[in-house]
Amino acid sequence: MASARRVLLGVTGGVAAYKAAELARLLIRNNVSVRVAMTEAGARFVGPATFQALTGQPVMTSLWDESVPNAMGHIALSREADAIVIAPASANFIAKLAQGLADDLLSTLCLARNCPLLVAPAMNREMWDNAATQRNIEQLRADGVAILGPARGEQACGETGLGRMLEPQELLEGILGAFAPRVLEGRKVLVTAGPTFEAIDTVRGITNRSSGKMGYAIAEAAAARGAEVVLVSGPTSLAEPAGMRVVRVTSAAQMWKAVQESLSGTDLFFSVAAVADYAPATVSSRKIKKSASAMTLALEPTIDILAHVASMPHGPLCVGFAAESENLADYAQAKRARKKIPMIVANLVQSAVGADENEVTIYDDSGAHPVPKATKARVAAAVVDHAVRLMPAKRRGAAVRPIRRAS
Ligand code: CTP
Repeated sequence: MASARRVLLGVTGGVAAYKAAELARLLIRNNVSVRVAMTEAGARFVGPATFQALTGQPVMTSLWDESVPNAMGHIALSREADAIVIAPASANFIAKLAQGLADDLLSTLCLARNCPLLVAPAMNREMWDNAATQRNIEQLRADGVAILGPARGEQACGETGLGRMLEPQELLEGILGAFAPRVLEGRKVLVTAGPTFEAIDTVRGITNRSSGKMGYAIAEAAAARGAEVVLVSGPTSLAEPAGMRVVRVTSAAQMWKAVQESLSGTDLFFSVAAVADYAPATVSSRKIKKSASAMTLALEPTIDILAHVASMPHGPLCVGFAAESENLADYAQAKRARKKIPMIVANLVQSAVGADENEVTIYDDSGAHPVPKATKARVAAAVVDHAVRLMPAKRRGAAVRPIRRAS
């Protein structure tokens, strides 16, 4: 079994500190070993004893802990970690990180690290929106720090807005994503996601039910594996994921145009979007007025984006998605054959639309590969890893790295 990953979990001052206890528990359950370091303010919200009990390890709170034989021993701790995760990260601590200050144990560990740093902001919405915080976040991003969240929602202070720390399960996915092998380094991945909206008139239209969550999760899993990602998204209410180019479209025709414009050099194409199969033949430039008689709408088929990309000579490896309400295996395999694609990911619509979890089966030339029910992030990771295994070796990042020979 692969040796456990090691996370140094930094807890700073904020009400969300209680969620860090749950995060520590989830990490341990996922075979990640956890050491905890707390700032003085963090320890005022949740006692070190809680983390000590959860991790079975002493919790570090001070640079000047006399029970530690070597004052520099603290620095060694940051060297033993595969990643440092600050959750919750207060506005003050983020400012210190952006400045490179080292005036307490946790900020010293961060400055002395030689591993990835992940930061989960948690603060009042005004503090988050403040120009100084936004400047600091931009600085951290430019320094290669991964920012997880924040989410929008009800805050401890009673206000509602952006600044809430992500839930422990979401943080877990982000942290595990950071440990993903970078098998798509140097590769380009194109993803379509969400529904399309085909206008009937200025206010009405035809659309499919799709939250876009699965497509966004696929794009994030590919980015976590080192790919250059372009996400072509239909209308969704999801926040744009960081670390990729997002192209927003509305209709199937616009999605097809954006796909064509982004296709050059693409190695892998995930067609996750629920593209409308038909669009109104004409779009009224005025709101259609109601009348007592029946109305017939003339519809024309939209272009099948996936089938077109799959038929291109020297095109990318294509992965389709099939949401079916019945006969999952038969319909999915028939769709895979019809669209001439090597891999299709199938699920039952009733179990997936809008949900945070999904249960899918992957079909390829070698048969059916069920992926157990899990968060969409986990399922996306399994789907991307399966597609990587089907890629010709020359397209796989790990296989094309030059081998350095000893001279
Ligand atoms: N797809 C596409 N363009 C379309 C329709 C579908 O690229 N105009 C892609 C979807 O992104 C998905 C796959 O084709 O990857 C299957 O979509 P689905 O709607 O399930 O299949 P259809 O071919 O439309 O068949 P049906 O609606 O009859 O099930």
